[in-house]
Amino acid sequence: MLIETARTPSLLLDINRVRANAARLAGVAKQNNVRLRPHIKTHKCIEVARIQTKGFDGAVTVSTLAEAKAFAASGFTDITYAVPIEPGKFGEASKIARSGVKLNLLTDDLATARALDEHARKAGTPFDVFVKIDCGTHRVGVEPDSEMAVMIPRMISDAKNIKFAGILTHAGHSYDARTVEEIKGVARHERDVMVELAARLRGMGIEVPTVSIGSTPTMNHIDHLEGIDEIRPGNYIFFDNFQATLGSCSFQDTALTVLAAVIHKDLDHKKIVIDAGGIAMSKDRGPVGLDPSCGYGRVLDLAGVDTGSRLTSVSQEHGVITDVGEEMLHRTKVGDRFRILANHSCMTAAQHTHYNVLENGEIVDRWAILRGW
Ligand SMILES: Cc1ncc(COP(=O)(O)O)c(C=O)c1O
Repeated sequence: MLIETARTPSLLLDINRVRANAARLAGVAKQNNVRLRPHIKTHKCIEVARIQTKGFDGAVTVSTLAEAKAFAASGFTDITYAVPIEPGKFGEASKIARSGVKLNLLTDDLATARALDEHARKAGTPFDVFVKIDCGTHRVGVEPDSEMAVMIPRMISDAKNIKFAGILTHAGHSYDARTVEEIKGVARHERDVMVELAARLRGMGIEVPTVSIGSTPTMNHIDHLEGIDEIRPGNYIFFDNFQATLGSCSFQDTALTVLAAVIHKDLDHKKIVIDAGGIAMSKDRGPVGLDPSCGYGRVLDLAGVDTGSRLTSVSQEHGVITDVGEEMLHRTKVGDRFRILANHSCMTAAQHTHYNVLENGEIVDRWAILRGW
């Protein structure tokens, strides 16, 4: 199918770029001798996960139990649910585990770990449980030098019905970096904090099977991964305007765009309005700290070339492009199409039901996005 005839707004996924991004990160994992457990929340798509995990053991990371369930049903048998578990989800997690997959959970809360042990006894589901460590993001996780960073691993190691999987962190604060040097600093810190904590726990007689780290910015700027067992980057498979502005990738690596149609043009105000608004794009401001004029995405032509314009503002179904150059303004008419490079591809993908798979300028397939909680 031609791009021109696809429904708008909809997602276009450049499959050659996806393959190249997958291969590059797979190379990082192989060279550093670590397991790759990609975070599939970026795409929520079985076909994309198969590309990412090719040559590895098929382990994945998910952010919802709905993703865990859907991926388990499609043959993924080693899944880490990488959001701290809470008791309201124990039952569902057990159900997924009983379907025959290894579902690894994580916690940063002693009482929850105890409750999970008790639940596992009754349900007969001996989960592997990671302790989530805060390496500087300050979202969730225990501080690496806190009492809890030892107490929770010890409690889980001593528990009868759950197993200690190891320690896991995510350097989300790498997104606040201003330079590549700063990202490199965060990457070193993410690794070193975890390696040191693992050594401390081992010194106390606590076996640490897995040390798990990884975000897209840090995994694209690591010097080595000694002492690390697995990495869990997610966004790298698509990248986006934020990652390219930050320096995690180049604009030529970005694989996901939103196809949108022009629904209004205003010569007097040098304005074009498209049918991709906040729902189609998300309202993520991504790189605004680095590029105050980033708006809600970059406006590309159908070949994927940057027009220089930005999606300035969005309401639910309208996306407004202001300050349009004279030539583009006069050439453009209602019904024309643009591609928008989103600020944050994970948030944008989650707004849609499927990808239009783009290969050599044509839509060759349609892949489902497995949404929900
Ligand atoms: C726990 C965890 N692991 C891995 C990732 C993947 O990070 P990124 O998308 O930066 O690669 C995330 C993203 O939020 C996460 O929360």
